[in-house]
Amino acid sequence: MDHSESSEKFPSSAAMIRPGETWCDIHGTPINAHGGGVLFHEGIYWWFGEHKIAGEEGNRAHVGVHVYASENLTDWRDEGIALAVDDSPGSEIPSGCVLERPKVIYNPRTGKFVMWFHLEPKGAGYEGARSAVAVADEPAGPYHFLHSLRPNAGIWPENIPDQQRCLLTGEEQEGLAALGLGGAPFPWYPKEICYRRDFEGGQMARDMTIFLDDDGLAYQLYASENNGTLHISLLDETFTHPTGRYIRVFPGRFHEAPAVMKWAGRYWLFSSDCTGWSPNTARLSSAPSIWGPWEEHGNPCLGPGAQIVNCFEAQPTFILPIHGRKDAFIFMADRWRPRNPIDGRHIWLPIEFRHGVPTISWHDSWDLSCWVEE
Ligand code: DGJ
Repeated sequence: MDHSESSEKFPSSAAMIRPGETWCDIHGTPINAHGGGVLFHEGIYWWFGEHKIAGEEGNRAHVGVHVYASENLTDWRDEGIALAVDDSPGSEIPSGCVLERPKVIYNPRTGKFVMWFHLEPKGAGYEGARSAVAVADEPAGPYHFLHSLRPNAGIWPENIPDQQRCLLTGEEQEGLAALGLGGAPFPWYPKEICYRRDFEGGQMARDMTIFLDDDGLAYQLYASENNGTLHISLLDETFTHPTGRYIRVFPGRFHEAPAVMKWAGRYWLFSSDCTGWSPNTARLSSAPSIWGPWEEHGNPCLGPGAQIVNCFEAQPTFILPIHGRKDAFIFMADRWRPRNPIDGRHIWLPIEFRHGVPTISWHDSWDLSCWVEE
């Protein structure tokens, strides 16, 4: 179904957030920003996301990263395409590549807006497992493609024992080839192999997010090692490269769709299981430091089983802290529609703290009045 034919349009003037309904910009056009993230900069929220097109071809990038602006989080102005696909010779982001989960942060040291995203070269499925960076002088762009990379080539993760700091033996390589690893979970996933295989060329990076800490340091979290293990990687002071300082988290647990917030002195990670475009049970983890130790808490969604077993039919994409409201965070997720990706729905829900833990419950509609102004 095309958005324009939807009977459930959500007019922007409603000043309510209605998760799952078609959400229109101030001109009545459905907001086309999937797998997105939000930057707050000088009083304005900038919502960046994948611009999807109709039909299954919409699972690949044909337009680029769309950006919208808002002061109140309900009325969104279309600010156009922040990063456009580029069909010029040598481009790494031609029409038909996979460009997912764009996230933008501002770097006060360089004065640049820095966009990171998951990039798969055109025609190679998901085997590329690369991260890419684009920069701009203004929040809405235009963003200029800088480079793509596999993070942390030639550097060992910090939290592995010395005896694992070695390339694969011939025997291990043969064993790995026999496993035919893809990106889906299975119980015989080899936990100490993939990062060693990828030591020289760089670590695989698929689903990713960027987290900007309150001390000005920025981190990339990405699903690595054939999706089986999450990596947390510190960015350099320009925010355009990894520093080489990184850790492995939850080996063999297949966390996808990472989204991070900081609250009550802890880092809280929302993520999903690993089931392609199909929704699955959300996961909550936390740590006293970004470097761990990380602990899994289980499903942060509360409510009827049918809703919470699949995270309200959605997969996390970002946690948005609300400026000027106390303990206020929005859980942003995608209800994917892989057969007609343009019709994917935005699931935004308020994070509700219970017994010292962030949780998510369903609300047909809600607004920012659920939080007190500071
Ligand atoms: C799940 C990921 O979270 C999405 O971003 C996308 O990569 C799909 N898998 C592709 O199957």
